[in-house]
Amino acid sequence: MIGKDTALAASYLQQGKLVAIPTETVYGLAARIDLDEAVLSIFTAKNRPSFDPLIVHIADPSWLGALVLDIPEPAKKLMAQAWPGPVTLLFKKSELVSDLVTSGNDTVAIRMPNHPLTLETLRLLGSPVAAPSANPFGYVSPTQAAHVEKQLGEKVAYILDGGESGIGLESTIVSFIDAKPCVLRLGGMSLEELEDLLGEAPAVNISTHSNPKAPGQLDTHYATGIPLLQTRSIRAAAEEFKGKNLALLSFSESYSDLPWVGSEVLSREGDMKEAAQALFAAMRRLDEGNADFILAEFFPEIGLGRAINDRLQRASHRK
Ligand code: TXA
Ligand code: MG
Repeated sequence: MIGKDTALAASYLQQGKLVAIPTETVYGLAARIDLDEAVLSIFTAKNRPSFDPLIVHIADPSWLGALVLDIPEPAKKLMAQAWPGPVTLLFKKSELVSDLVTSGNDTVAIRMPNHPLTLETLRLLGSPVAAPSANPFGYVSPTQAAHVEKQLGEKVAYILDGGESGIGLESTIVSFIDAKPCVLRLGGMSLEELEDLLGEAPAVNISTHSNPKAPGQLDTHYATGIPLLQTRSIRAAAEEFKGKNLALLSFSESYSDLPWVGSEVLSREGDMKEAAQALFAAMRRLDEGNADFILAEFFPEIGLGRAINDRLQRASHRK
């Protein structure tokens, strides 16, 4: 069922059921963190490996104290300016947070999402929820209620429809476990903005191995069913794959002289935020077409362009 009824969403969560929630980054698949069965059902619904920990979502910074052992000063400073917003902070967890949520880690990732319907639902519920992106494990994250309905509709009690996600990329994850803040996942808050809010450049440790600190960073992730290839030259790649049905995923150029069977230009104006917002829905549309390959451009490595490249790289077909 899809709707905008926050009281209904809260009551399903209260009963331990799964509810898809809108956020400014992507839609989440939410369950109460204090019911083991509810948390386990998230992993089952997504077909997600149990070693991949969940992000806890709160409605107010005052909820944080009970969930963590200590809140370092730089984290306080960031939260005060960035929440609600597209940044997740990693802390040492308190006993209140179950090992199921953190996959046995002694740390917990927490964020306050910026969406009025979800904040209202959490306030009505009165307790935090765990929520990964509401897609089957390994697929592109959802930025619309219809995306969730299509893939997980039968597995959730309710989809709270909050319209299109305004940012369109998952949150940036910043660890405050060590003295220096460290980015573990690029996302909806750019490194430039983060540096500005922290007052110092964070360390960046984006893992690409099979046993990473942030397992969302597994090699194959965010992938379309049709193989996607990220390339520095669309023209050279189109030439190389001549004779195949090709679809285009580009920043601002349309390459309209080439024979595309599908084409998504994310921002004709070359606006990186607009491109990020449009990215995942465009990947899904291309995946519904009949191309043999999707050719995706490299984006300029500035602002959200870095996170877009990260997602396209992980979505890229491995030969
Ligand atoms: O924007 C977002 O963050 C969205 C919305 C729904 O809030 N959520 C999201 O969740 O992207 P998910 O499950 O797709 O990605 C969460 C990632 C995990 O894969 C892992 O990399 C990292 O967060 N994570 C969570 N808890 C962690 C922990 N204790 N230590 C290290 N990484 C953690
Ligand atoms: Mg995800």
